[in-house]
Amino acid sequence: MTARSWLFVPGDAERKLTKGLASEADALILDLEDSVAPPNLPAARKLVAAVLREHPGTRLWVRINAFASPHALADLAAVVPAAPAGIVLPKADGAADVTRLGHCLSALEVAAGLEEGRTRIAVVATETPAALFALGSYAPAHPRLAALTWGAEDLAAALGAVSNREDDGAYAPAYQLARTLALAAAAAAEVDAIDTVFTDFRSTEGLVREARAARRAGFVGKLAIHPDQVAPINAAFTPDVAEIAHAERIVAAFAANPGLGTVGLDGRMIDRPHLKQAQRVLAAVGNARRP
Ligand code: COA
Ligand code: MG
Repeated sequence: MTARSWLFVPGDAERKLTKGLASEADALILDLEDSVAPPNLPAARKLVAAVLREHPGTRLWVRINAFASPHALADLAAVVPAAPAGIVLPKADGAADVTRLGHCLSALEVAAGLEEGRTRIAVVATETPAALFALGSYAPAHPRLAALTWGAEDLAAALGAVSNREDDGAYAPAYQLARTLALAAAAAAEVDAIDTVFTDFRSTEGLVREARAARRAGFVGKLAIHPDQVAPINAAFTPDVAEIAHAERIVAAFAANPGLGTVGLDGRMIDRPHLKQAQRVLAAVGNARRP
């Protein structure tokens, strides 16, 4: 099931956890990494595990610390027995990290009496310079891999950049490259491509512009950092009435001409790639209608 909005909630912030649970986000990412100061980690792990146990289901994910940190295994040991829907792995450096995480998850699932393989994985796949060269490694996907997203903040820090934006607000070329490669990596691996955070959380206009552009490009969802970002993201990744009607007409045109690979519609050539796009739009409608 595709999640459109993925809301980050700092794992040590009780008030925000309550607020996040009340939001319409398709997925919540209970964070143990960048939004939690290391001294608060032990308390955050306990709080996150308690929230997971109180709210079983498919919506709650946990972002653990990176494998390069000393915290990743303790994070996993604390939260996997509480059965999160999945783990978000930051600073992933390629498919080998997914395999490694998969082994950790298997051991912890079996130890906790959970079904082996139940915990999904989403990777933040562009946060280190080395990661950019490993994006092709995610395909074919590990059976647990559900989604791939990208990040421009840690990458900028690692590259020594002063800013990841140009003067006009657009992403600088290095980050556009990371975004595009992440999109292609997700498509090649046949997992959901999720766009990165929009940090200016008071600017709904900027968020909507970026979310719409992401959807046009092929992303199926976007990370959020504030509850106010959830509704605009859900809307941006839900096809509108005109789009649905157009997609239905394309599907109908092919259904009416079963032998044809290409048909004319409103004076335009429509062929197989258009059919595939139309079917994708209709699938997204199905997703948006779920409870
Ligand atoms: N999840 C749940 N609730 C949140 C939230 C979030 N990510 N961000 C803000 N809220 C809550 C606030 O607690 C506040 O609730 P209250 O009125 O009951 O006190 C309400 O929404 C309004 O918040 P606001 O005052 O507009 O923002 P803020 O200044 O308190 O917080 C941030 C701003 C950026 C610190 C906050 O949005 C945040 O923590 N975001 C997530 C950061 C994160 O996880 N980063 C890691 C990934 S990049
Ligand atoms: Mg980060």
